[in-house]
Amino acid sequence: MRIKSSMEVNVSTLAQNYQLLKEICPNNETLFMVKANAYGHGLVPVVKFAYYELGIKEFGCASIGEALRLREEIPNGEFEVYVFSDVNLDLQEAADIYLNNRIIPVISNETNLEFFLSHEEFRYFPLCLKFNTGMNRLGIKMDRIDYAIQTIKKHGRSSIYHLMTHFSSSSLSMQKNKRNLTQKENWKELKSQINSSGIEIHKSSIANSGAIEQKVGLEESHVRAGLMMYGPSSLLPQYNKLSCWKGKLISKLETTFIDSFQVDRGTPIGYGATPCPSAGTVGVFALGYGDGFSTRYQNVHLNHGEYEGQIVGRVNMDMAQILFPNTNLTIKNGERFVVWDQNGQNFSNICVESKTIPYEVFIHLTERIPKIYRQ
Ligand SMILES: Cc1ncc(COP(=O)(O)O)c(C=O)c1O
Repeated sequence: MRIKSSMEVNVSTLAQNYQLLKEICPNNETLFMVKANAYGHGLVPVVKFAYYELGIKEFGCASIGEALRLREEIPNGEFEVYVFSDVNLDLQEAADIYLNNRIIPVISNETNLEFFLSHEEFRYFPLCLKFNTGMNRLGIKMDRIDYAIQTIKKHGRSSIYHLMTHFSSSSLSMQKNKRNLTQKENWKELKSQINSSGIEIHKSSIANSGAIEQKVGLEESHVRAGLMMYGPSSLLPQYNKLSCWKGKLISKLETTFIDSFQVDRGTPIGYGATPCPSAGTVGVFALGYGDGFSTRYQNVHLNHGEYEGQIVGRVNMDMAQILFPNTNLTIKNGERFVVWDQNGQNFSNICVESKTIPYEVFIHLTERIPKIYRQ
């Protein structure tokens, strides 16, 4: 565990982001996506805050393990937990976990649908169904809507607890992108067929961050917000102007400099002896790929106060080097270096210049960096 490096998670900023989300969609319930350790921010503390302080009552995980952890660590929480992808419904052990902990599996294929409906234990359990309207990942296919309806009826059910689909391209334009338009049409068709079959839909959701930011899918009962709650927009940079999102990063990643020295243009630096692109001051800071600071961040520009630096040389397992060009900047050993904070500029540089998505930058961070929760 690092001592002087940390990821500070500011839960008041999470509250502000949620407030902003509510301004965009005041009439929707939020299913807050907290898979992958709440996008790297810490599953249990994030959910505790979201449930007890913000009143969010539905959470989305990817695996049974994540969902069960919520039930075990927040035993009095009267919230819903969904498992979205790694459902494993065919395993008796998994089926027992769903049943005994009221964890809702998102049913996304015919095998799971048959299993769920034909097992007596699940008779009164909420049926959550995901359809593939065009993402072609998980989901019951559009040409199997009738089959799904007949199967639901055959097993004596008259309602779907939560009906869902997921966009493949909500980081692009929701109004112009053809795939998004097709998916919206397919969703309409899906709902219309289910409604006219007499099967009742209790809850429905279609929008993740990219769609919410473009105010699409808000006529459903729920939105499934993930990334935006942690701060960043989920739209690709070239589509930023289509987003109404004004959220702030809820995290601050900081470390310290452990050494510094002056270099000339061409001075070889670290593994691979990469020549420095210009003269200046090099600071060595205590984050490397062992902390989740990826080798892909080489050459990324990061500001340190008023100085603009650039990661030079290969990022190591435990440290990385940043060059402040053409300056005699003095860096003290132990001086703080804020890699990113609410301001978001450095974070955005990392994503854009290393061609990495914000989701991955967060999730890369390893346990060696302690998380500190602040109001
Ligand atoms: C089915 C589903 N819904 C919602 C989300 C949330 O997406 P985002 O983080 O882009 O808001 C995800 C995330 O991967 C998802 O898989």
